[in-house]
Amino acid sequence: MENKYDVAGIEEIEPGKWKIVSVKGKEVGIYNRNGSYYALRNVCPHQQAELCKGVVTGTNLPSKPHEYIFGMEEGVVTCPWHGWEFSIETGKSLFDPEGCRVKTYSVKVENERIVVYA
Ligand code: FES
Repeated sequence: MENKYDVAGIEEIEPGKWKIVSVKGKEVGIYNRNGSYYALRNVCPHQQAELCKGVVTGTNLPSKPHEYIFGMEEGVVTCPWHGWEFSIETGKSLFDPEGCRVKTYSVKVENERIVVYA
C-alpha cells in the first residue's frame, strides 16, 4: 500500500527546476516540467550515481542523416557520471527505454503542496 508524503510547496520548485527530497528514507528528485511535477529516484541504474544532481536539458530527436532536431526541452536529466540520459516524465532511458529506467513515483498537487505517493 502506498503512503503519501508532503515534500514541498509548489512555490519551491519553479518550471524547469527541481529539488531533491527525502521519501521513505530515500532521495527523490522532484521536477517541474512546464507546470507538471515528476519524481525520480536519485539513483542511476548504471552505477548508482546521484542521477538527480545531473543537468536538465533536451536532446536531439531521431532524424534523417545530417539533420538535427532538438526536442524534449527540460525533459531529460543527464547522469553526472557517464552521461546516460533519462526522460523526466517516464524515467525511461533514451537509449533503451524498455530495458533501462530509473524508478519513478506518482506525484500530485494537493492544496498547493507537492505530494509523492510511495
Ligand atoms: S552511473 Fe549514471 S551513467 Fe553511469
